[in-house]
Amino acid sequence: MCGIVGYAGPQGAAPVVLDGLSRLEYRGYDSAGIAVLDGGRMRSRRSVGPVENLRRTLPEEFSGAVGIGHTRWATHGPATRENAHPHRSQDGHVAVVHNGIIDNAAPLRAELAAAGVEFTSDTDTEVLAHLIAHLVARSPAGSLEEAVLDALARVEGTYGLAVVDDRRPDRLVLARNGSPLIVGLGDGETFVASDLAAIVRHTTSVVHLEDGEFATVTASGLRTFTRDGVTTSRPPVRVDGRSGHRELDGQGHHMRKEFLEQPAAARDVLRGRLDSRLGTARLDGLNLDARALRAIRRVKVIGCGSSYYVGQVGAQMIEELARVPADAEAASEFRYRDPVVEPTTLYVAVSQSGETVDTLFAVEEIRRRGGQVVGLVNVVGSSVARACDGGIYLHAGPEVSVASTKALTNMALAFALLALDLGRVRDLSIADGQRLVEALGRIPDQIQRILDDEGEIAGHAEELSLASSLLFIGRVRGYPVAREGAQKFKEITYRHAEAYQSSELKHGPLALVSPDLPTVAVVPDDELLGRNVAALHEIAARGGRLLVVTHPGVDVGGLDVRRIDVPKSEPELDPVLLTVPLQLLAYHAALELGHDVDRPRNLAKSVTVA
Ligand code: F6R
Repeated sequence: MCGIVGYAGPQGAAPVVLDGLSRLEYRGYDSAGIAVLDGGRMRSRRSVGPVENLRRTLPEEFSGAVGIGHTRWATHGPATRENAHPHRSQDGHVAVVHNGIIDNAAPLRAELAAAGVEFTSDTDTEVLAHLIAHLVARSPAGSLEEAVLDALARVEGTYGLAVVDDRRPDRLVLARNGSPLIVGLGDGETFVASDLAAIVRHTTSVVHLEDGEFATVTASGLRTFTRDGVTTSRPPVRVDGRSGHRELDGQGHHMRKEFLEQPAAARDVLRGRLDSRLGTARLDGLNLDARALRAIRRVKVIGCGSSYYVGQVGAQMIEELARVPADAEAASEFRYRDPVVEPTTLYVAVSQSGETVDTLFAVEEIRRRGGQVVGLVNVVGSSVARACDGGIYLHAGPEVSVASTKALTNMALAFALLALDLGRVRDLSIADGQRLVEALGRIPDQIQRILDDEGEIAGHAEELSLASSLLFIGRVRGYPVAREGAQKFKEITYRHAEAYQSSELKHGPLALVSPDLPTVAVVPDDELLGRNVAALHEIAARGGRLLVVTHPGVDVGGLDVRRIDVPKSEPELDPVLLTVPLQLLAYHAALELGHDVDRPRNLAKSVTVA
């Protein structure tokens, strides 16, 4: 959510910042802006819409060795040029880009207004620009660092912040509290970003700022320091250069490129982790030996949005295979309800980006209360990954499309591995373990077979795109699949799509059923098939149209309905495969409706505000 880029060095800030911003656009694309320091002169530009609009407004001569930029996802105030970052102080000397939310912006704003500041935007960030400028003016040495420290001592909220001052034209000052900032070290140049994707093509040597940490960045490197101004030592780490690969590789959309990558991604998450002899999974990164695994009495999964729905799939797998009570909860709710944290519960945080602030804060809260947390995270070295005690990296590769696909599939597979591991140190038999290991090994090819049916699925999508409202139904294993199907559909088609347990239809939603409201029914071939087919009859008898997502050869009660046949796995793993055609349905329906599939309105890839 919102992206920050900064640069100090000989390449000139504008091209590096603009390139970085366009790589971060998936985090927010309401508006964008840039400020550069050319010697003692600051110039800034802001514009509404994508980074390309900003690029077009820049005069040819927009040079400067130091600069900051921002791509915004609106929180305070609509997406207008005035609300876009950078925000400049009234005296024009200071410019600020900010991710996060300043909770006490209103009283600070009133105080500054009383001191004569005229505000030009509705944002909380503008408060920071004026506050810092006031404090620079008051500081005897005119120190930007001191002013930032003093300003932030008065601020409540979350921030990843980059500040420039034209009286200190060689530097950027950074501060982090709850919103990531990364500094990339080059040869005589230094890069700043809220997300590796923006800078990894320039350097793979990076420093992740910690919460409560500050930094001064110049072309020759960085100095990190604490709230008390004490210098800290932060050796750089090497990151994987491939994490910056964000090209379309000939595909029209990132979403399509990414769902087509699923067979390869699935192989990557399973690689080296399946033990067919012992029928178990090898998960060294969990940092839990057999004894520690056996001591776990309960599993609680936390995540947001689609990751939470996959968490429900995972909790069910764990309960089924390990017979350990398990459930999933939205991380955004969990941390606000004063949860009981038990030392014998294993908390599992699940996140593609590893930067979703609700998930991150929930992890921090659990750890503060003495709980142990492992992460199922895609982005290596991300905040959630670093905050956990151990985990399973998803190895899905970079995901750019706002609507997540391959990372979710890999989450479900990682949960299957975890369930297997937990099960085999308990009562799951070796035969069952081997059955599941073999089935997991077949999944990448089975996903490929679903993708090969894209044309047929697109035909169903065309019909569904005509409806203004849809139901997605499933029960037990099928229910989280239905939830994710509805989520993907509404996210990119803007159609109303609602998921229900098929068992709950009679308790209310059946009243909605009519020929105008299609139902997508997830019907695995498992012990609940008869119950699922009964629900299909209830809908058909009321004139409802059905699209049934099931397996080849499954008799759907003799009903003449449209269907998508998904290869059959073992029942415990079927949700992994049943989800895939629902991604394609949403994608093709959105295309049919002419939407920007990769950048759905009002959303951003990584939700870094609570
Ligand atoms: C939906 C989607 C979101 C994310 C959610 C959590 O397609 O992508 O619902 O699943 O915002 O994001 P991560 O997994 O990055 O924590």
